[in-house]
Amino acid sequence: ARVLILNGPNLNLLGTREPSVYGAETLADIEARCRAHGASLGFDVTCAQSNHEGVLIDHLHAWGALHRAGEAAGIVFNPGAYTHTSIALHDAIRGIAPTPVIEVHLSNVHARESFRHHSWVAPVAAGSIIGFGSDGYLLALDALARRRAASGL
Ligand code: DQA
Repeated sequence: ARVLILNGPNLNLLGTREPSVYGAETLADIEARCRAHGASLGFDVTCAQSNHEGVLIDHLHAWGALHRAGEAAGIVFNPGAYTHTSIALHDAIRGIAPTPVIEVHLSNVHARESFRHHSWVAPVAAGSIIGFGSDGYLLALDALARRRAASGL
């Protein structure tokens, strides 16, 4: 089955963006680890990143259709700052139910500014993996692999 690793705004800057918070790896490094780990679980991993809310929504819709068609196991999604602002992303994830979307954050948002404490994505996500750096994406792939038995994908 296919899996989408989807990253939102400013995550294209990983490697140079606040490395003390987000680590030294680039997004390309993380995507390479996701492809390799996904392959070890039997997943065909596709990676996408956008700084644009509407483009993220289009990706969610497209992968919801793939899930409905039985081709995709789910989506691993780091929505960046849109996590804390976007009812449109909340609605998009609801709209593609029951496609599993796993929310990932590199940093422990709950240990940071209070404006990062609320997530519009969390209530519609299958679950959230927060604060484990880039390992979070791999843990999310593990979670999708464990759900695969139930979904048949
Ligand atoms: C982030 C946390 C968000 O609060 C922030 O806006 C990001 C990255 C994380 O991965 O820790 O852009 O989603």
